[in-house]
Amino acid sequence: MNDTERQVPKHVAIIMDGNGRWATKRGYKRNIGHLEGSKTLEKLGIYILNQGVKVLSVFAFSTENFRRSREEVDYLMNLFVEMFTKKFKQFKKENIKVIFSGRKSPLRQDVLDAMAKMEEETKDNDKGILNICLNYGGQEELIDASRRIALDYKEGKLNLDGLNKESFAKYLYHDLPPIDLMIRTSGELRISNFMLYQLAYSEMVFTDVYFPDFKEKEFDKVLEEYYNRNRRFGGN
Ligand code: IPE
Ligand code: IPE
Ligand code: MG
Repeated sequence: MNDTERQVPKHVAIIMDGNGRWATKRGYKRNIGHLEGSKTLEKLGIYILNQGVKVLSVFAFSTENFRRSREEVDYLMNLFVEMFTKKFKQFKKENIKVIFSGRKSPLRQDVLDAMAKMEEETKDNDKGILNICLNYGGQEELIDASRRIALDYKEGKLNLDGLNKESFAKYLYHDLPPIDLMIRTSGELRISNFMLYQLAYSEMVFTDVYFPDFKEKEFDKVLEEYYNRNRRFGGN
């Protein structure tokens, strides 16, 4: 790809991993890493969506993360409430729309209320979308979509011949464009049940940097690598 073809990715996704190790390495409790990670997300999210990226999806909490200690899960849930009711005001000012993907159950009511507030306050914004995946699982999203498809079919609202990639996507949590660039921080080389449908032809970049340290400069480096990729989509 040469410079004239440097097209800003439309949909970027980040598996924000390594908060715990970032903190442990410094002799702090893991939760301090989550707090630092939330600060990084606030700045980085605005930076990325100000560059013409239309959608930024971030993995904040997986359905499997409920397996962690009670103390860590409680800390994260309290942090989410704090973020969505107080700290993320800048997204509103920056004209960014915040949406959530994932299952509601078994999230606490105060977390659900904070999410609803954040969504409501930013619903008319149109510069870009921050899609926060919280209590999210990629397999769960496909199962939930299949359930809705079955229901619509049963009620005669869906003609099976009309089911294709685009119409299927409308049954997902949100109808978002395919992911162009997926980044995972912290050196782990796996997907961990993240956006399985949307990642189909995504370019993937894995960096050893722990998420709290994944600042604007690190993103710039990843974007440079993306521009050097040759996307073929099965062609030649
Ligand atoms: C990512 O960091 C944040 C969440 C999964 C909530 P981790 O908490 O997984 O940090 P590590 O991978 O243990 O270092
Ligand atoms: C994936 O990270 C989930 C989030 C970043 C929210 P994990 O730390 O939970 O993933 P594994 O357990 O290393 O695969
Ligand atoms: Mg991790």
